[in-house]
Amino acid sequence: MIKFPAPFQATIFICDKKRAPDNPKGCCRTRGGDALRLRLKEMVAEQGLEGQVRIFKSGCLGVCAQGPAAIAHPSGDLIMGIQPEDLPEILEDLKP
Ligand code: FES
Repeated sequence: MIKFPAPFQATIFICDKKRAPDNPKGCCRTRGGDALRLRLKEMVAEQGLEGQVRIFKSGCLGVCAQGPAAIAHPSGDLIMGIQPEDLPEILEDLKP
């Protein structure tokens, strides 16, 4: 194992799990998780935060009914029911 400090200060993992349309659990993909992730990446670039804040997609975070969901570090916040208008606040919370 090799272990070293991550080369960025904050990360957020946004669920992009996709399930079949007839799956009763639903999924964050159909609730807009991927579009939220792409927009947040754009916002990071617009604000020159690359290298400080990293945006990743994740698998299911276990709160499907409350999606789109994300988990942020270093805060450890599990964020649910994300709407596009929430992204500025989410990014503000991620800033070092
Ligand atoms: S599908 Fe996103 S939290 Fe389960």
